[in-house]
Amino acid sequence: MNSIGVIGAGQMGAGIAQVSAAAGYHVFLADVNQDVAEKAKAAIGKRFQRLVEKDKMDAQAADVALGRIEAIGSFDKMATAGLVIEAATEREEVKRTIFAQVGEVLGHKAVLASNTSSIPITRLAQASPDAARFIGVHFFNPVPVMDLIEVIKGLATADETVEIVRSYGKALGKQMVFANDAPGFIVNRVLMPMLNEACFALGENVASIEDIDTACRLGLNHPMGPLTLADFIGLDTCLEITNVLFSSTGDPKFRPAPLLVKYVEAGWYGRKSGRGFYDYSGDVPKPTR
Ligand code: CAA
Repeated sequence: MNSIGVIGAGQMGAGIAQVSAAAGYHVFLADVNQDVAEKAKAAIGKRFQRLVEKDKMDAQAADVALGRIEAIGSFDKMATAGLVIEAATEREEVKRTIFAQVGEVLGHKAVLASNTSSIPITRLAQASPDAARFIGVHFFNPVPVMDLIEVIKGLATADETVEIVRSYGKALGKQMVFANDAPGFIVNRVLMPMLNEACFALGENVASIEDIDTACRLGLNHPMGPLTLADFIGLDTCLEITNVLFSSTGDPKFRPAPLLVKYVEAGWYGRKSGRGFYDYSGDVPKPTR
């Protein structure tokens, strides 16, 4: 497989395009239009540049890698890709529309993958041209830094499809884990209850935002405290995934914390909206209570 397609040039899609190009793949990068894809490519160029400045990448290798990324405005070119990864917004109808459109040009042997963090793979596969060639390929943010890919097999995913993704992940130098299609897969099944519990703890006035974060950062040796991490992921995303865990299992242990729900209702989504548990308007994030 020489080329891959990435649909969605946001934070995750751009990260996937970056690491794929650095690993030697030709990457077709698509978004709602060519202009958005070009802008994402320019941002990837700056990230390669920073790696060069930090002596983590050779300047020529950075140029070559950036040259492997082709920003595209329509899916036609994806016909030559061996693997197409959808990393669009986490809305099922958006993903279904993309699968129908790219499905019209997808090669007969090509694999279609979704970077979804919570939508069932078996259900999404129904919108793809061939459920046997459909799979979940879940990257973590920031993609260039995080070593993991969670691979999720839908009920109809063929073993050959898993093998194609396995060799792709290996080429990227990522560690892979393999999960069955259960709510939250592995990471979010374990992570979201922890972040949600931190919201319960804050709502019940167990401790301050800073102390909850410091306790988990130093007491558990986590790189970020749970409230910082929830802000980093996006509180709306955390709530959405927690709701998937709750509604698809019916288990009350997954019920979302009232404070998390309130913050999302207030539009306080975390870093991306400028305010969540922390205020991001200054140079250093400040706790909001
Ligand atoms: N893109 C690329 N590289 C980045 C980056 C980004 N957005 N943010 C940081 N980095 C790089 C930095 O350039 C730096 O690289 P070097 O060591 O080569 O200089 C390195 O990461 C460390 O960065 P910093 O020194 O600035 O900051 P840090 O040490 O605090 O690390 C962090 C930042 C890597 C984000 C770290 O805090 C961390 O690992 N946090 C946890 C992240 C996490 O849990 N992600 C998973 C979220 S869950 C998810 O994604 C899935 C889902 O479905 C919700």
